[in-house]
Amino acid sequence: MNAAGEAWREANRAMWDERVPIHAASRFYDQDGFRAGGGDVNAFEAEEVGDVTGKSLVHLQCHMGQDTLSWARRGASRVVGLDFSEPAVEVARGLAEEIGFGPERASFVVADVYDAREALDGAVFDIVYTGLGALCWLPDLDRWAEVVASLVAPGGFLYLAEFHPLCDALDWDTGTRFTRDYLATDPMVDDDGGTYTDGPQDTVNNLSYQRTHPIGQVVTALAANGLRVDFLHERDWTLFGHFGSLKPTDRGYEQPPGTPRAPLMYSLKASKS
Ligand SMILES: C[S@@+](CC[C@H](N)C(=O)[O-])C[C@H]1O[C@@H](n2cnc3c(N)ncnc32)[C@H](O)[C@@H]1O
Repeated sequence: MNAAGEAWREANRAMWDERVPIHAASRFYDQDGFRAGGGDVNAFEAEEVGDVTGKSLVHLQCHMGQDTLSWARRGASRVVGLDFSEPAVEVARGLAEEIGFGPERASFVVADVYDAREALDGAVFDIVYTGLGALCWLPDLDRWAEVVASLVAPGGFLYLAEFHPLCDALDWDTGTRFTRDYLATDPMVDDDGGTYTDGPQDTVNNLSYQRTHPIGQVVTALAANGLRVDFLHERDWTLFGHFGSLKPTDRGYEQPPGTPRAPLMYSLKASKS
């Protein structure tokens, strides 16, 4: 099924399109620093993915391409970023050129993730990468896993890093009480202005649809499409103050000692034999 015309898609895309210029100018994404050689994927991602030298990599839902380009800086021989937001892809292309990667080394494609196979002309990659804050925008994980599996070259793998879906079900003050069904299948519909980089903003396209994808659903969808899970790491720390109770530490944000801990992020590697 083609995703075009579905209400969630148009709303989410308009929401993301409007936020691109805000993000491109933000301290959060620090594009001047990135152009000057700064910025990178998270250290745990680099460690878990391992040496990418000479490998091809596709980054699904790449936003403005900074992580995509970071994998190229780390030695990947060819990186392709894909995102359904045209303004985001335009920024990514500009960044690639500014830091000296031509299209044969780093290219960016405007497409819905569900249409990635066609948009990438059936190409396969040593590494399929998807980073934090991506899966929640997708309504159907089975379709996603089918697409992902089709993009992994034999002997290659998917690497996925995400915020833990359990966080969606816990209270925002303490992160210790259930306030929502972890297994809920209905979308979380949001209509707040602003964005995570700059807080409240005078934005117009605010309607968005997000989903919780329980870990079991992710693993089962990948297994059903022929990928073998090599690891699934759940972490008790995250990268922002998701709950009011989380305290900044050396690693990021964590519950203070003595507070019951839920997993806050996870990462997964799944291979194609
Ligand atoms: C939170 S951002 C990803 C963040 C990324 N890890 C980073 O820090 O730059 C989510 C991205 O998913 C993209 N996106 C959402 N739904 C999509 C879809 N169905 N197909 C392709 N891209 C999608 C949005 O345009 C946005 O750029």
